Amino acid sequence: SDIEKGTYPHYMLKEIDEQPGVVRKIVQNYEDEEGNLVIPSDIANALHDADRLYIIAAGTSYHAGLVGKQYFEKMAGIPVEVHISSEFGYNMPLLSEKPFFIFISQSGETADSRQVLVKIKELGHPILTVTNVPGSTLSREADYTLLLHAGPEIAVASTKAYVAQVAVLAIVAYVEAQAKGKALDFDLKAELGIVANNIQTIVDHKEDMEHVAADFLETTRNAFFIGRSIDFYLSLEGALKLKEISYIQAEGFAGGELKHGTIALIEDGTPVFALITQKEVSLNLRGNVKEVTTRGANACIISMEGMEEPGDTIVLPPVHPLLTPLVSVVPLQLISYYASLARGCDVDKPRNLAKSVTVE
Ligand code: G6P
Repeated sequence: SDIEKGTYPHYMLKEIDEQPGVVRKIVQNYEDEEGNLVIPSDIANALHDADRLYIIAAGTSYHAGLVGKQYFEKMAGIPVEVHISSEFGYNMPLLSEKPFFIFISQSGETADSRQVLVKIKELGHPILTVTNVPGSTLSREADYTLLLHAGPEIAVASTKAYVAQVAVLAIVAYVEAQAKGKALDFDLKAELGIVANNIQTIVDHKEDMEHVAADFLETTRNAFFIGRSIDFYLSLEGALKLKEISYIQAEGFAGGELKHGTIALIEDGTPVFALITQKEVSLNLRGNVKEVTTRGANACIISMEGMEEPGDTIVLPPVHPLLTPLVSVVPLQLISYYASLARGCDVDKPRNLAKSVTVE
């Protein structure tokens, strides 16, 4: 069954490997008979009426929300705010006139997110929950639900749910952009097919990531992840994944912000993972890599075909510029997995963490 490990040593590795199938299954679940991507019309209508979206989430789901903001703003032209649920509930920002709330939660049970949902319900604003678990609390209490169709995620560190969240948010934003008559210069369904194939290519070469973990993370106490624009959000997720399961102190940073503080921490041999998937900022990020390597950092450059340079550690197969999170997250997951394994940590059940946190 879906929730058995089979021949896998850990659920996390199994769930990483399932990601190409998850992307394909989402496309199947969100297409109509003619093969066009769709969402239920009541959700589309409610979205259409909104003047601003508020995405509320915790942990990895919050990182997926940051990517989702790019989608709604760049494809559909709707302004979006993304908030950490434990902050939003007690320090609520001013709301727009017609807010629409999107709760993102793999489990649908996170108490921090639920307390916000309860408050928003009282205010009477429309609520959509994007979750992996049908019938979960956040789904039942929302006006609308969209499912991730990722299958049960057992490992505490979220992998396939993140990919599913990003893919579903891309579909919702794309469908809304079409409804608004925005000129979209790409076919999302076809691009998601390319994404699925390219994730497969990456997981087929997982030994590369095992070598990276051995070369960069074997003995280090800390590690940094840098990126710009969408890659900044991936650097946050890469750092979170590594912290969660390997207990290496890790920080994700906007490349340009390094010089304003973090660069003081760079020593001889400090590992810095640099993400380069966005053409407009690739040279800026290369400059940031220089800043850290001249101070002794051990830079692992993860770039994408079309903007690679000789010496890059990992070159990802190319996908549409908005969809790079779906592929760039995969080496980050695998590097964390192998670092955790090499350090003898409990990959699937890291200390002090729970799969779903039902207390505030
Ligand atoms: C816990 C898990 C994280 C997860 C977060 C949000 O802290 O350990 O992996 O990202 O909760 O969970 P949710 O189910 O709301 O997405």
